[in-house]
Amino acid sequence: MEITRAEMLKLSLLGSAALVLPFERTAFSRSGGARLRDLPPLFRTELPIPPVHRPVRRTKDTDFYEVAMKKADVEILPGKKTQIWGYNGVTPGPTYRVRSGRKVQVRYVNRLPNPMTIHTHGAYVDGDSDGHPAKFIQPGEFQDYFFGNQQVARTQWYHDHAMHLTGLHVYNGLAGMYLIEDDFEDNLPLPKGYGEYDIPLIIQDRQFNQDGALRYGVADKDASSNGVFGDVVLVNGKPWPKMAVSNRKYRFRVLNGSNAQPFELALSTGRPFTVIATEGGLLERPVSVRSLPVAQAERYEIVIDFSEYPVGTPVVLKNLRGKVGKKSRPDRLRSDEPMSSIMRFDVVRKERDDSRIPSILRPEEEQIDPTHLPTDLSEVSRTRRFEFKRTGGYWTINGKTWNEHRIDETPREGDTEIWEGSNNGGGWVHPFHIHLLNFKVIERDRGEPPRPWERGWKDTVFLGPNESAKLLMKWPKVPEGPEPTEFLHRYPVHCHNLEHEDHDMMLQFKVARGGGKERPARKKASDRKARARAARRRRLRRPRARKV
Ligand code: C2O
Ligand code: CU
Ligand code: CU
Repeated sequence: MEITRAEMLKLSLLGSAALVLPFERTAFSRSGGARLRDLPPLFRTELPIPPVHRPVRRTKDTDFYEVAMKKADVEILPGKKTQIWGYNGVTPGPTYRVRSGRKVQVRYVNRLPNPMTIHTHGAYVDGDSDGHPAKFIQPGEFQDYFFGNQQVARTQWYHDHAMHLTGLHVYNGLAGMYLIEDDFEDNLPLPKGYGEYDIPLIIQDRQFNQDGALRYGVADKDASSNGVFGDVVLVNGKPWPKMAVSNRKYRFRVLNGSNAQPFELALSTGRPFTVIATEGGLLERPVSVRSLPVAQAERYEIVIDFSEYPVGTPVVLKNLRGKVGKKSRPDRLRSDEPMSSIMRFDVVRKERDDSRIPSILRPEEEQIDPTHLPTDLSEVSRTRRFEFKRTGGYWTINGKTWNEHRIDETPREGDTEIWEGSNNGGGWVHPFHIHLLNFKVIERDRGEPPRPWERGWKDTVFLGPNESAKLLMKWPKVPEGPEPTEFLHRYPVHCHNLEHEDHDMMLQFKVARGGGKERPARKKASDRKARARAARRRRLRRPRARKV
């Protein structure tokens, strides 16, 4: 154990002060100083592979980990030091590689000045271990998180989720991958070997100051509110890296870990590549694409076949999508802009390739787990609508901002529902993310079919300007945590633009036990008054929420 009980108790007495004070200081001091003048060179640094978390202890059915959130000075830009906040001082954080069905317990120790929570994005986990935005680990304290991992193989990720602070914390480095692996997938002939032919690609944009400090752009007028965009693309923590590859197939686990920037991947050669998995694991069938939009928090796994190219060919992973949200800025990037490149693969050698992409990757019936319950349109008991928009100077869902004391939706265990997300605004992308379960996209933009690459199980869906999506899901039983608190059944649903989420595009749902009753909807007439009252209360209680 890294801190003593006595220390922890002492620190927890300071807890409520710590909640308020360090945030303003940390957030605002970082944007001071001159902005970086010369961008780092493209394709100079080798792509690093995030290290793998090692358990401190194992029992028959459980792996135990201890992870500290702490500061570190690292070299991101050549010749400069950047202070980051990282899990074990590393960014992106070390990768968890866990076996489906094996339990994991993590002791998260907060050695940073801000309150934190850790969300394992995609996990089937009770609200206590889900990193609920209000279940803080105060500075100097720790909490134990429990994971059952009763899910099929998939690429999840873990990141900070502290109320109003998520954007800053993730930007500072608090994000990493959490992979679930299983026998079914191991037995497929796909490219294999973490860091060898199975490569995580965590793509994030960042801004820096001239001295190398991360620049969380709250000094810019639009930064905290509209979203913080970067002018440098990092992959696994390095700017525009390169990777030497053999002329064979590789599997890449792509995560867009940016705060606000959606990407659209394409190869500089114009050749197609193959999508094999979404957030919830392998697709039933592979899908060949020439470009692939990836919103913040979405994961797509792709296979690129470099046997198409002679040794000596550089293949650049491009980004076709520009900064969004300002109508004056083009959505499409010119191919000579730095933001239009992500990284480069250099085909440097010949090698035999035994891997292949089966035409059936994982049949539907082999995908079933608690987050992937078979759904049937005829069983839909309710449709809930989520409109992502600005209201009264805030980012809102259905006109509401986040309030941890209010339950907005109460789906019932065992019920099949449709959640319909819509973004009727012109400029913004609002990635729509639901905790606890996965869904199927069943309809796009009122009457259109889902896009071919989003037909698998998903937990986040791309809502571009004027787009909507109908999501079909069946609510599982909430797993029982070993130390249940008031958070057990409570989860957020939100936009995954982290600045939108922080200010304040997030609602809370509580999963009701099977047979439970819905709370009656409020009457229309009293709505306006109630909203005004709530807004007044909110302003008093939460001075940190800022207007957009
Ligand atoms: Cu990755 Cu609630 O988020
Ligand atoms: Cu999540
Ligand atoms: Cu948004």
